[in-house]
Amino acid sequence: MSSSSYDPAIRKLDELLKMKHLLPKEAAAMLDTVSSLVDKRESYCARMTTEESPALTKIREAAGTSRMATNHLEGQFLKTLVSMTRAKKILEVGLFFGHGALAMAEAIPADGTVVSCEIGAEQVEKTQKLLDQSPHGKKIQIKQGKSYSIVMVPANISNYTLTLKNFQLDRK
Ligand SMILES: C[S@@+](CC[C@H](N)C(=O)[O-])C[C@H]1O[C@@H](n2cnc3c(N)ncnc32)[C@H](O)[C@@H]1O
Repeated sequence: MSSSSYDPAIRKLDELLKMKHLLPKEAAAMLDTVSSLVDKRESYCARMTTEESPALTKIREAAGTSRMATNHLEGQFLKTLVSMTRAKKILEVGLFFGHGALAMAEAIPADGTVVSCEIGAEQVEKTQKLLDQSPHGKKIQIKQGKSYSIVMVPANISNYTLTLKNFQLDRK
């Protein structure tokens, strides 16, 4: 089963696999089948996805099997979203090893910026070194410190007002 995934369904499946011994034999066998199908789907998607840059691979390796990091597929998906929207300025809350930030930075123009907030000072130090190895790293501005508990974007109030309450990252 995928050890690093943001997908809540895969994470729940991982939890269920740990409880497999509590299930009746048939249910446990069915769970194995589901798990194997999900694995095959994930590896097919990863194989079919655009290859990532060597800098992104290095970052993923540095993050190890941590579930906090975006994976290859997610990174390339972010990159696609950025290209499709022709985004130039991006705000990210939660840099970690910078996989998502660099994927997005690779898709913005040379004068674009990804501002990424990261609470951990040591994390910022490690990540900055990795980002410095990519020519796109200079498009990323890291803001070290605790970010906000409410993010409100009333920029174009005639179209939408977006308020994100109880921002998950800020609950610690
Ligand atoms: C899920 S990881 C981010 C993954 C990353 N975007 C990627 O693409 O791999 C969450 C990160 O947010 C950081 N974090 C947690 N609370 C935060 C806060 N209040 N402000 C800023 N960063 C925070 C954590 O230290 C961690 O590095």
